[in-house]
Amino acid sequence: MQDSCGYNRFDQCMSNDALKYNYADFTDTYGRIMQFNKNKQEPIHRWYPFVEGYSKEFIQSIIDENKEQKIECCLEPFSGSGTTALELQNLGIKCYSFEINPLMYLIGKVKLETEYTYERANYWFTKIKNSRDKLNDTNLDSSVFPTLYQSDKSKKWNYDNEVGLAVKKLKIAIDAINEEIYKDLFTIALAAILLDVSNLYRNGKCLSYKKNWTSIKLTKEDVFTKFDKKVTDELLEDIKNSFKPNVEFSQKNKSFLFNSDSRFAINEKVEDNSIDLVITSPPYLNSRDYTDTYMLELKTLGFTKDNAQIQNLREHTFRSHVQIHWHDNADIKNSLLKSTLKRLDKSSKNFTLWNPSIIDMIRLYFVDMDTLFKELYKKMRKGGKVYFNVSNSAYFNVEIKTLDICASIAEDIGFSVQEIRKARYLKTSPQQKEHVDKLLEGVIVLEKK
Ligand SMILES: C[S@@+](CC[C@H](N)C(=O)[O-])C[C@H]1O[C@@H](n2cnc3c(N)ncnc32)[C@H](O)[C@@H]1O
Repeated sequence: MQDSCGYNRFDQCMSNDALKYNYADFTDTYGRIMQFNKNKQEPIHRWYPFVEGYSKEFIQSIIDENKEQKIECCLEPFSGSGTTALELQNLGIKCYSFEINPLMYLIGKVKLETEYTYERANYWFTKIKNSRDKLNDTNLDSSVFPTLYQSDKSKKWNYDNEVGLAVKKLKIAIDAINEEIYKDLFTIALAAILLDVSNLYRNGKCLSYKKNWTSIKLTKEDVFTKFDKKVTDELLEDIKNSFKPNVEFSQKNKSFLFNSDSRFAINEKVEDNSIDLVITSPPYLNSRDYTDTYMLELKTLGFTKDNAQIQNLREHTFRSHVQIHWHDNADIKNSLLKSTLKRLDKSSKNFTLWNPSIIDMIRLYFVDMDTLFKELYKKMRKGGKVYFNVSNSAYFNVEIKTLDICASIAEDIGFSVQEIRKARYLKTSPQQKEHVDKLLEGVIVLEKK
């Protein structure tokens, strides 16, 4: 049986709560634009292939529907690939953005840079090609991360020897660039090809070995060719077309991008009552640990130098994963959350194999939401709007109506919930499929009245 939101009415009490909010069907338009895929053809947006983001059209559509409002200053608490701040920069709108992961932060910074010239980019590209060819093969150090490079001591490794050596040479050549914006630019070009040349793939939650990884045999030249193609076809091409001498950008959002934990940094960096619009997508409550997903790039490019730094990064991300045990009894008063946690607790008793920290993670995810919405409320001016893209989740055969719970937390803080827009349905994991067959992804629209 289906409820009015189009999903199974297996959870009667939750469905009644859910009906509190006005659900609008945006599947026709949002179905296409809530994925990063469309950005893969777009200049600059395409420099790094990101999975967990939306397209620039989503940003454009929000600006279009708010044409009557004066939009001067926006806020994006989870920058990710930088789509929000970049698209707003192209539209001449200021945007503060925050990103905890140093790789994502650099991707955003590189895409928001406005000072590139084709000549300098080309100059440094030629330098990289010349110097990598002159470098001797170096030692691939596996002492800190034993499975990063091929070695006799491990059965599996992320890069075969030839690939590891080519990556290392590229990194040495890039690190020698003494103009920071180009060093960063080519670091992101290298980051963009690493997964492809490695033995790994992103499986949605973390990294796994490619099925045929033992038979993939790339040479150093293959790696260089992939890097050169990325640089020539995308970076140089876009720089030539988008950065013309004597054309000034009316808005430069790079100076408003911070490599910090948005739960705590927004307060320090953004003035109270100054934000007209928030457009964002937080980590979903799906146990995905962004530190794990981007581990290959973090380790290879030296963003995290040892396991302690990896752990430190995990500790500062939104609590949507169980890679570390959260020792925190914090809770919030929200009846919808309370009833969900009760049902989860009961249902989890039938499961023996799942990680017991999951219920803590779910509680703390919404504690973090509460912290975030309080910050947003303080920083927004009256009449300001929030567009919050998130999806429902499922654990222990219980659907967690994240959209409703987030809306309800925001409402408790003082926001008015205008509507929840249905964007598309996501598949559930095989373990949950029997009881929860699909998960709604949507956009919560809030207003500070
Ligand atoms: C769903 S993605 C953001 C997608 C982004 N809107 C886009 O389109 O690319 C969530 C991002 O939040 C970041 N993140 C997680 N915890 C954070 C925190 N405490 N502060 C800032 N960023 C955080 C993750 O590293 C990830 O890049």
